[in-house]
Amino acid sequence: MRKYYMAGNWKMNTTKGEAVDLAKALVSQLKGCAQKVMIAPPFTSLDAVGQVVKGSNILLGAQNMAAEEKGAHTGEISVLMLKDLGVSVVILGHSERRHIYGESDAFINRKVKLALQHGLDVILCVGETLDEREAGKAERICDEQTKKGLEGVSLAQLSKVTIAYEPVWAIGTGKNATPADAEAIHQAIRKTLAGLYSVDAAKKVQIQYGGSVKPDNVKELMAMADIDGALVGGAALKPESFVPIALF
Ligand code: PGA
Repeated sequence: MRKYYMAGNWKMNTTKGEAVDLAKALVSQLKGCAQKVMIAPPFTSLDAVGQVVKGSNILLGAQNMAAEEKGAHTGEISVLMLKDLGVSVVILGHSERRHIYGESDAFINRKVKLALQHGLDVILCVGETLDEREAGKAERICDEQTKKGLEGVSLAQLSKVTIAYEPVWAIGTGKNATPADAEAIHQAIRKTLAGLYSVDAAKKVQIQYGGSVKPDNVKELMAMADIDGALVGGAALKPESFVPIALF
């Protein structure tokens, strides 16, 4: 049976106490969940949430990471600090990083390579804006972001990479891509991966869909052949919505 990868990106939400409560509820309600599950709380709660998920089937993820290992980078968080807290996965290239904070493909690529060098798993996010979709450029944008994000990533390292397709217009808007629209882009991304590596390697990469995933649309999205999981924002903040997504 296919094992899906269900990840919760908590973004800039939850104080430490709230994060611990949410993590505790998820650990107890997702015990025995057949899917791979990850949660990415804010940096300030990683330590506390790390203690809660330790020994459980839930992986600890970070939402971002600096492009350098250490030094004079005020306000940044290093890969070494994340590893020290038990983080095993980092989300990179999220559209909010790209569009609000101006992160370029080249900058994201440096982070991807650094995370992989240090043995972290990476979720590389790609996705087009509404203007790009309407101009018929969705596939091209995702192809480009995937290629540039993975530049210099070896075949061996690819096994630690997940791609998350998150159309920018569907994030936090309540508008999700139709399963067929999402599947078309997932297929295109897999084709890009096949071109970069091999058909076989591309088949093994998990490609998540993200953008307004909810308990009532998760099933139809996961039914698509090339959708291997979900990266969930808003609905990841409550056990009532994240648990049914993870257990869909
Ligand atoms: P959303 O966010 O589920 O709230 O749309 C998804 C994401 O940005 O990862």
